[in-house]
Amino acid sequence: MSTTGSPALIKVAIKSGLQRIGLLSLQESLSKRIHDTENRAARLWIRGLPALKALWMERSLARYYSRKQAIEWYGRQAPLWYDHRTDLHTWNRSRNPQWVERGVYAREVMPRGCSVLDLCCADGFYAHHFYSVVAGHIDAVDFNRQCIRRAQAAHADSVIEYHCMDALSESFPRTAYDVVTWDASIQYFDLAQIHILCAKIAAALGKEGILSGSAKVADHASERLGERCYFNSADELRSLLREHFPHVAILETAYPERTNLYFRCSFSAQRLGGFVKEEVRACR
Ligand SMILES: C[S@@+](CC[C@H](N)C(=O)[O-])C[C@H]1O[C@@H](n2cnc3c(N)ncnc32)[C@H](O)[C@@H]1O
Repeated sequence: MSTTGSPALIKVAIKSGLQRIGLLSLQESLSKRIHDTENRAARLWIRGLPALKALWMERSLARYYSRKQAIEWYGRQAPLWYDHRTDLHTWNRSRNPQWVERGVYAREVMPRGCSVLDLCCADGFYAHHFYSVVAGHIDAVDFNRQCIRRAQAAHADSVIEYHCMDALSESFPRTAYDVVTWDASIQYFDLAQIHILCAKIAAALGKEGILSGSAKVADHASERLGERCYFNSADELRSLLREHFPHVAILETAYPERTNLYFRCSFSAQRLGGFVKEEVRACR
């Protein structure tokens, strides 16, 4: 006689006994409830913890960059270039979008596959985040070795070539470009240097080429920032640029702490795009 069947028979007997007195369905609904609660807790855990971690990291980044900005920028001498991660990580609180404008306005005049010379590129933030997705080739130029090292480490891309060189005294990496960008830098050159650079840029641009750049209107911070050419109005900037380009358009954007002049210069009026050609359009 086999004895192996006995425990199984006992289990079946117990189960049918429990079923008869209704305890089995009670046990089943209890274990379903436990299972559901466990699932809910697991879901909360997965969703809750990483979300809290992200929130904490966001706040830490915002605190870190606003402190870094305060230390670096409100001392006696401001640095020559700005780390735009500060704008990125404090945007939620600052709600100031001006740092995006130069990337968007320059990107707007870049046809797919174009060649770009990004003058005074600093850490390559704009070349990487705005231009590299559309340009075929970008030469990004800055004479500060620290900037170029950081650009190569943080903003490398197959279409961008970073060059540590003086844009004023050295030849541009190529002889011709479709687009030249020159943002937030013109005011750091003196008048004679601006003329030298404008002549070099004009020579590098073909008939359909365009220079897209921006300047800051002179204000109480100009001296501390080391600006050498003070632009008091869009008209002043326009007459300077008109000495080198037949078509110049300027768009002004004003913020409580700064007024920006975005300029587009070309040998073709059509290339100026949405920027008004002869008059200043103010966005206030
Ligand atoms: C205020 S930053 C602007 C950087 C960037 N275009 C932007 O929009 O944030 C000015 C940059 O110009 C660079 N620069 C100044 N004179 C230069 C020159 N002669 N040749 C190359 N770079 C120069 C500085 O090293 C600095 O990184």
